[in-house]
Amino acid sequence: MKKDSILVLDFGSQYSKMIARRIRDIGVYALLYPYDISIHNILSKKPKGIVLSGSPFSVYDENPPLISKNIFKLNIPILGICYGMQLISFLFGGKIERSKYKEYGKSIFMIDHCKNDLFHGIPKKSIVWMSHFDEIKKIPKELKVIGHTSSCAIAALIHKNKDIYAVQFHPEVNHTEFGIPIMKNFILHICKCYPNWKLNHFVQENVEKIRKLVDTKKVILGFSGGVDSFVAAYIIHKAIGSSLYCIFVDTGFILKEEKEKISFFCKKMNLFIKIIDAKKRFLSSLIGIIDPEMKRKIIGKEFVSIFQEESEKIKNVEFLAQGTIYSDVIESSTYSSLKLLKNTFFIKSHHNVGGLPNLMKLKLLEPLKELFKDEVRKIGKYLGIPKEILYQHPFPGPGLSIRIIGEVNNKKISILKEAEMILLQELKNYNIYKSVSQAFIILLPIKSVGVMGDKRTYEYVAVLRVTNTEDFMTATFSHLPYNFLEKVSSRIINEVNGINRLVYDITSKPPATIEWE
Ligand code: XMP
Repeated sequence: MKKDSILVLDFGSQYSKMIARRIRDIGVYALLYPYDISIHNILSKKPKGIVLSGSPFSVYDENPPLISKNIFKLNIPILGICYGMQLISFLFGGKIERSKYKEYGKSIFMIDHCKNDLFHGIPKKSIVWMSHFDEIKKIPKELKVIGHTSSCAIAALIHKNKDIYAVQFHPEVNHTEFGIPIMKNFILHICKCYPNWKLNHFVQENVEKIRKLVDTKKVILGFSGGVDSFVAAYIIHKAIGSSLYCIFVDTGFILKEEKEKISFFCKKMNLFIKIIDAKKRFLSSLIGIIDPEMKRKIIGKEFVSIFQEESEKIKNVEFLAQGTIYSDVIESSTYSSLKLLKNTFFIKSHHNVGGLPNLMKLKLLEPLKELFKDEVRKIGKYLGIPKEILYQHPFPGPGLSIRIIGEVNNKKISILKEAEMILLQELKNYNIYKSVSQAFIILLPIKSVGVMGDKRTYEYVAVLRVTNTEDFMTATFSHLPYNFLEKVSSRIINEVNGINRLVYDITSKPPATIEWE
């Protein structure tokens, strides 16, 4: 079936992924690419429309993210959002300046008298969501103003002869009253896309594709037990049955009872899984290592070696499958371009994102590469994957090793496993597990004095980290009830030998990250 698509060019806005999600919700396939994709590459994707996202940059920054003016010659309809609008105006020769009044949040948008397809059926006056500090002061002659707010005289533009539209507000966020109808006008009427992107088609199409591609060869899958690897495994299994070998590596840094949980669900879902006991190997490779990046790199390399060794034990293996999802792909592309521009530094290496396959000789099979997390969950639900798997919190590949600050040893691992287990139990007892995005304990290499049963104690300090987030790129600490905090603290201090103090991390991301290492 022919699949129309819209290309979203990402200039680094926090809402870029949301734009792509909204387009998919409308039933049209959306591709999200870094802003610096070449014109040639844009053409090869054959999009029926292009959206230019917002950005934390200004067009007058020293090194702003720009696109070639040739994009306007492609005769593909374009919608610029926020920075995307300023960029369109800038490229046609308009003047952009820092606004006297920053405009963040809700505003009343007024459509100026002018018939246009973007605002077809939209009331003259509506609520929109603004987030900008620059504004267009002078528009180029090719463009015309089609809307304003009380503090922004030029809040929407249209090209006089081409299908180029721009809005200063964010139609993709929920707070914009008629955001979806405006996006629908652009996608369905201006770009003339046919809305036939559906998740169950995705499964059928991919099962067929994988079956053809793999043919009589074998596939090993790096199985972490998370929702992505379960869904990937299930789809591949549907396609090739017993030619799929799921490999779960027990690094020793996994949660208590994790292995048993994974075995139980794999059995329930008829997935063959091989568990490799690599506890000693991982622990000995980390002796004396305290640097977080060194830990991550060493663990990544061990994983590669293990997958390589395992693939050599099975005849005819040609593919390494992974549960990579779209946000993993985006993080390793767009953001690297933008980081270069902003001169920001590399933050941390996720061993299973990008790094692993480069070192392997096997071909990659990543069936979920085009999907967002909530789409993966929807597919999982459609495939009948149990909700204990679908809605579990994410767990990092390097596991507890990056939650033990400083050198890792067996004693610290067992202390942390006990503490994490208690936290998990209480999150479920208090019905909090589902309302937070991720919750865990960090063990610090610091001891503090305490008193228990009239006796002095001198034990480790642990940190409780609980966050809420939509996409794990930004996060806030969760506002938890005091009685829950009290219970977790008292159980951990009383039941875990080795911890005598628990503190709560009240930092958001940014400036902190979710994990401590
Ligand atoms: P940070 O600490 O970067 O974490 O704010 C964002 C999310 O990613 C998870 N995380 C990882 N996931 N492999 C993974 O699969 C990794 O190496 C890794 N490191 C961090 C983290 O738990 C959070 O959900």
